[in-house]
Amino acid sequence: MSLDLMAERTATLFARCFGHPPRWVAAAPGRVNLIGEHTDYNSGFVLPMAIEQCTVIAADANDNRDVTLHSVTTGETARFSLRQAIQRGEPAWSNYVRGVLAGFQRRHKNLPGLDAVIDSSLPYGGGLASSAALEVAAATVAESMLDRPLKSLDKALLCQRAEHEFAGVPCGIMDQFTSILGQKDRALLLDCRSTTMTPILMTDPTVTVLIVNTNVRHKLAESKYAERRAECESAATRLGVSALREATVEQLEAASATLEPVVLRRARHVITENARTLQAAQAIPESDWPKVGRLMYESHASLRKDYEVSCPELDAVVEIAQEIGEAGGMLGCRMTGAGFGGCAVSLVRTEAVPLIRRKIDHAYERKSGRQANIFVSRPADGARILK
Ligand code: GLA
Repeated sequence: MSLDLMAERTATLFARCFGHPPRWVAAAPGRVNLIGEHTDYNSGFVLPMAIEQCTVIAADANDNRDVTLHSVTTGETARFSLRQAIQRGEPAWSNYVRGVLAGFQRRHKNLPGLDAVIDSSLPYGGGLASSAALEVAAATVAESMLDRPLKSLDKALLCQRAEHEFAGVPCGIMDQFTSILGQKDRALLLDCRSTTMTPILMTDPTVTVLIVNTNVRHKLAESKYAERRAECESAATRLGVSALREATVEQLEAASATLEPVVLRRARHVITENARTLQAAQAIPESDWPKVGRLMYESHASLRKDYEVSCPELDAVVEIAQEIGEAGGMLGCRMTGAGFGGCAVSLVRTEAVPLIRRKIDHAYERKSGRQANIFVSRPADGARILK
């Protein structure tokens, strides 16, 4: 469904729920990370792009300081009051909005109430930053409600804190940043230490980004994420650096005899992944696709063996991609996002898209017994008010 149609449908539903048209309709995109995985919370480099799939919120303020949120996706309604400090609550998805409004409430004592209808074309929990898109869409509505736009970094940090405190996930800054800063036709090279962004032009019409949703989400994903973060912090301490971004392969080799094997592997992933990300950011504008593809496969192998965040279903998609190979129009493929399920991202020759879709579809079902969802996206714009 096109964004315009989704916005119109959400606005119509709002009018039906609340008896008048919405004052604002905001949209915030999900993201796919091309390369640079589990590097953001190590102050490193990431290379994501915002995607066309997004979350839309139709909304209006109210004077009674109540919040009513209706989700089109789940059919559930969340209700809470702003007269007291906002707490975590049910349904689970409402926590992303609760956390964001709590952030605004800290700054503005008299935050008005909110009526909203929320729709999304992003798979929930599919590794495409559906939670960041919801946070950023909610923050975009709140900015309009208060008529006070935040600076991008400020907004990203407010949304990230919502995720830390209300969803209990100690995420990095990549997803929120990308949903805010996304640019049409550009991937974003983010330096997560300086929080600066360099747009990377991606307009070659012969290459398409193809996303494969494995439709699995393994239990423990959240707890393993927190565990990896802690392992990286301990690796940094052992190497005498403030974050793994500062460490080099030489330093790691020198310390290898004294480090536990797990710590060594985690650090090796982060250090090599940062280097791969910078190389990919150079190769994309040069249309050196075979090189980008190679880096993506290397990234996946490192996430699978050293970082241990892949799973059989993601590995199956990458194996299928390797079987299709360059001759079949497949340039590269890797898991994307936190891992333990979710999506794989691949770069494919545009002319081969229909055939590759069919091949992955069949082979994935054969290997995993599951159905994949396969779709394409151009790099898209970041969050905005549509109305
Ligand atoms: C999740 C987090 C991001 C990042 C990725 C892994 O998407 O929200 O901050 O750490 O995992 O690269």
